[in-house]
Formats: sequence, C-alpha cells, structure tokens
Amino acid sequence: MNIDWSKLGFHYTEPDYIVRAAYHDGAWEEPYATKDKFLHLHVSATCLQYGQEAFEGLKAFRGIDGKIRIFRWRENAKRMKRSAEGLYMQPVPEELFGKAIRLALEKNLDFVPPYGTGATLYFRPLLIGTTPRLGVGPGRDFEFIVIPSPIGPYYPGKFHCTTFIVNRYVDRAAPYGTGQFKVGGNYASSFRATEAAHAMGCDCIFLDAKQHKYIDECSAANFIGIKEVKGDGLQVTGYEYLTPKSSAILPSITNDSLMTLAREMGMKVTRRHIRLEELADMSEAAACGTACVISPIDKVIDTEKGKTYSFGDEPGVVLSQLYHALKDIQYGRAEDKHHWCDVFEI
Ligand code: PLP
Ligand code: COI
Repeated sequence: MNIDWSKLGFHYTEPDYIVRAAYHDGAWEEPYATKDKFLHLHVSATCLQYGQEAFEGLKAFRGIDGKIRIFRWRENAKRMKRSAEGLYMQPVPEELFGKAIRLALEKNLDFVPPYGTGATLYFRPLLIGTTPRLGVGPGRDFEFIVIPSPIGPYYPGKFHCTTFIVNRYVDRAAPYGTGQFKVGGNYASSFRATEAAHAMGCDCIFLDAKQHKYIDECSAANFIGIKEVKGDGLQVTGYEYLTPKSSAILPSITNDSLMTLAREMGMKVTRRHIRLEELADMSEAAACGTACVISPIDKVIDTEKGKTYSFGDEPGVVLSQLYHALKDIQYGRAEDKHHWCDVFEI
C-alpha cells in the first residue's frame, strides 16, 4: 500500500474491507467483513425511492503511544438510533454498532494513518431501507454498513481559517423537519447553496428556515462563537462560548465535547438563539464537527445585506486552546477524564 498520509484530504480511499449486517424478518444478522464494495439492491428499495437513509461519521486516531483511540462511538450509535426513528427505520442496536466498528477497524489496520501525519481513519456507518416499494411508505428490511476510509483535513491546510457566506435562498431543513437527524436528504438539499459557496472558495452558513434571522449551522458542522466578557474597566475578564439552539440542527458530538472542555477552562457556555447580527460582538467564530474538528472562520459575508463580519486572518487564542485540548485527548497526549476514547492496543 502506498498512501501519502500527510497529503490526504477529506476524500474516499478504498479500504480493504467494509462491514455489513442486514435486518430481515425482524432480526439483525451478525456483522461480517467483506471486500465487495457493491450492493445488490432492488431498484425500488425505499432508500432509493423515498430517501430512507441515515449515516454517521466518527474517527479512529493513532496516538502518541501507538495505541488506537476511537472517539465517543456510543454517541454516534445513539444519534443513529434517533435518525433511524426519525425516518421510520429499524434502529441499529448499540452493541451491533460497536461490533461493526471494531470489526471494520481490525480488518483495516493498515489503513490507520500513523501518528503525526494529521490523518485519521474515518468510519462512515450507513443505514438504508432495502424493501422494494412503490407505494409511499417505509420498508421492513434494512442494511447497516460501515465504510472505513483514511482521511485528511476537511478544509485543506492544517489549522487555518475559512470564509463563510450567509445563505438565504436555500433552506437546509425545516424547524421540525429532519435537520436534527443525520440523513442524506439534508445534504442533498443543501448542495445548491454549498456548491455556490465552494465556487467562491468559501463555505456557507444556514439561517433558521422560518425567519432567516438566527444562525442555524455551518454546512456540515455546528457553529461556535466566542465573546469576550468584560469587567467594569472594560478589561477582558473571561470568555463566553456561544452556540445556536435550534430544532433544525444536528446535535454535534464535537460541539458537546468542546462545551465540556470550555466549561473546564472556566468559560461561560451558552446555547441559545443567536441573531446573525450578533456576529459583530464576537471575537472569534468557528465551525465544528468530526470531519472539520474546529475550523476557525476569518470572515462571514452577508452579500444580500452588504455586510462582512471579520474575526482576523489567524485562528484566535480561545479556539486554538480548545482545538489543542480536544486533539490532545484524541491522540492520547492528555488525560481522558471523561472516558471519551475506547483504546485499542492493536
Ligand atoms: N452538523 C452537520 C450538519 C454535520 O453534518 C455534522 C457532522 O457530523 C455536524 C454538525 C457535527 O457533528 P459531529 O461533531 O457529531 O460530527
Ligand atoms: C462529519 O463531520 O463526520 C460529517 O459527517 C460531516 C460531513 C463530512 C458529512
């Protein structure tokens, strides 16, 4: 195998094995590894006809001590259960989810990038409806698949800033729609907006679909803003970590972890509706998620209102501190007080 680990981007690299398990006649089969990356799927399967599909994303890290750490996979299993229920699919039991991830790791050890390369082994668990149906309605048969792939950074470059454009012409998800679930339809519905932003070398921020007033999330990541807390003499006495509260956004496991770390660093953590104009009061901003970790934002451009919010060209001190604290846990360089990592000595 000849992979230049440090040159990997967020792209698919064919692993040796994927892992599969089907649900038929009311029972899940045992997960098994296979080299075959193709499905023999009926053309009328509910995943193709009616979008019965959910997915996840999680990472394994080769640590400084040579051990492999998988980060918070139980949270991904729980979220996939919620997504399955949201789309009327059979949830994957947590134990099966864990077994499949472990098998995918064991069968693809050569694809775990070495420590220090910035690359990780990404797992893409996928749940699809496989029952043939033309009548509108859910299926009874499902397939759970884990696709591993070594990946590099989501946004090219190591830890640098990305520009975001405010989008008002495409709504990613309705207030009580599927935005809170990790389902393919949310991404397909955002492509028109994200591709337009990518063509300008940027990514895009989605606003709440009802009023276009509050920040919902970044295209495939949650939004974080940092606000300076000032004392009477206007000196900076601390920082507030702000993140949107919305029924249309994906509850990010990275954001949840960063909120815990921020509290431990003494920050005030607030989850509430955030008006777009409040960006003007923030000293730092970022997108966060498994794929992008923390991607600091240099500018948010609101073309329609002719306004640009700037946060500086370099990652700010607070977000840098949070980024390193999270990575230190994932790579085994800091104590994992919350038992977020499952450690494998293989
Ligand atoms: N929001 C969206 C729409 C995403 O696709 C992702 C990525 O999974 C996130 C947020 C971040 O979630 P997590 O930190 O669990 O990866
Ligand atoms: C992730 O952060 O893991 C994601 O799945 C986001 C995106 C690549 C779909």
